[in-house]
Formats: sequence, structure tokens, C-alpha cells
Amino acid sequence: MNHGYTYQSTLAASEAMHWRIEDIIGGEKRLDFSKPFMPEALAQVEPLSFLNAKEKKILNQIRGNTYLCIFGLVEEFILPFVLDQVRPQLQPDDFRSRALLQFATEEAKHIQLFKQFRREFADGFNTNCPVIGPPEAIANEILSHDPLGVALVTLHIEWMVQNHYVDSVKDNQELDPQFKSLLRHHWLEEVQHAKLDTLMVEQIAAERTEDEILKGVEEYLAIGGFIDGGLTQQVEFDMASLMDATGRYFNEAQKEEFRKVQLKANRWTYLGSGMTHPKVLETLESLSPKARQRVESISPAFC
Ligand SMILES: [Fe+2]
Ligand SMILES: [Fe+2]
Repeated sequence: MNHGYTYQSTLAASEAMHWRIEDIIGGEKRLDFSKPFMPEALAQVEPLSFLNAKEKKILNQIRGNTYLCIFGLVEEFILPFVLDQVRPQLQPDDFRSRALLQFATEEAKHIQLFKQFRREFADGFNTNCPVIGPPEAIANEILSHDPLGVALVTLHIEWMVQNHYVDSVKDNQELDPQFKSLLRHHWLEEVQHAKLDTLMVEQIAAERTEDEILKGVEEYLAIGGFIDGGLTQQVEFDMASLMDATGRYFNEAQKEEFRKVQLKANRWTYLGSGMTHPKVLETLESLSPKARQRVESISPAFC
């Protein structure tokens, strides 16, 4: 495929980009709970007609907490997956080993960053907000799938981050600057990851027949189905957190409206925006036009 990504250039970009956790969170760098955390394109709180402006902001912040926690969660499977790709092939390409190890180091850093964020959020928000898990069980379930399926999910997640930041966070002046800074720093390193994922997918697929590639695509979709089950549960958690935080108990019609609007929002955030990303579709097409067609036949359900 003619994308021009190389292990050497992504490593160089990553080394130039490096930041430390203590530079972006802690001390004076505090969350501002008077502001929204998430762009409306992802949070989609406005259609919930039974919530007032203050309640919508609280839900937006709950969704922001969930968003970073879910990234922490998925990065717990990406980290061992990347390490598994490095170990069997340490030679002959030193740039490959170093770029993938750098990728793993950054994901370990992001996991730690998101844990720290979660503690700071809990301190300032004052209501416990449960998130699906535990991370090890989710990672084990995802890693039990075909490596091509896992690599495609990883590719989907990293390009999805690009879409979220560039399309709806970067120029948004309403958001809490501290939350936005976390998203920006994460995005800066994810750019390289998305390119490395492309190279990993290509390498795994290079030794496969078309049928074996399409089997990997089915596994990617199966993992998507597993994540969708988690999102359905997360919507219930977010609704319970909102009722706790506002002291308001919703009636059945309001609960149904919440589920409908927020499941759609979650599906777009974590599934649809990755499945329809042009770079994900390009990579699928390069593996097999049937791979792209298969994903495009499913994605409207998540958009
Ligand atoms: Fe990350
Ligand atoms: Fe990443």
C-alpha cells in the first residue's frame, strides 16, 4: 500500500514528540468542573429533552470520565499485543523493534495517565462513576481472538482517536482546557500508533490467503460485538451515575430516552467513527476489496 509509513520515520516523530505525565496532570493542572469535557459530537447530551443545562453538563463530564477510562481499558490489551508482535522478530529490523517498543512504552504511560485522571476526577466530581471492566478480563477476551482481528481493532481505535480530536476537540473553545490538554497529548502520540498499526496489519496479512484475511475481518467484527455489549452496560452505568450526581430519579420513559440517545452516541464514539474512518477503510481495501465491503455492510448500525 502506498502510504509511505516506515518504522524509522514513526520512531523519529515519536522521539520528537515525547512528554511526561507530570508535565500534563497534577499540581496546579486541575480539572474545571464548571466546563464541559467532551465535544457534543461525541457526548450527544443535547437531544435529552428532560435534562436541564446543568444536568446536561454533568452528563457530559460523566461521559468524559468514561471516555478516558475506556481508553485506559483498551490500551491494556494493546500493550501486550504490541509486545507479542516484537518478541518473535527482534532482528533484522532494529527500527521495527525500537518503534514498536516505543509504542508499547507510550501505551503503558497512557494507561498510567488515565488512572491518574480517574483519581482526580473522583476527587472533584464527588460521585462514584462505575466503568465496565475489569480491564484484565476484557483484555483476555479480546486477545483470545485471531491476531489479525486484534490488529484491526487496534488500527480502528487509533484512527478513531484522530477523528475525534481533529474533527471535534481541536478547535472547540468551550471545553475544559485541562481535559482538552489530556486529549491533545494523547492524540499527539496516537498519530504514530495509527501508522504502526497499519504496518502491523499489513505484516500479519502478508502471509495469509484471502479466505484467512476474511476470517480475521470476521474476528474484528466479533470483537466489535463484544465491545458493543460493554457499551450497552456502560450506558446503564452512566445513567445511574447521572441520577446519583443530580439526586434526580428518572421515570421509565426518561430512562428509555436516555438509553436510546446514549447508546447511539456511544456506538458512534467507539465503533462507527472507527469503522468508517477513511484510513481504516483504505487498509481493509488493500487487504481485500471484500474486507472493506464486509465492514461497510455492518457499519451503518453504529453510525
Ligand atoms: Fe494511547
Ligand atoms: Fe495508542
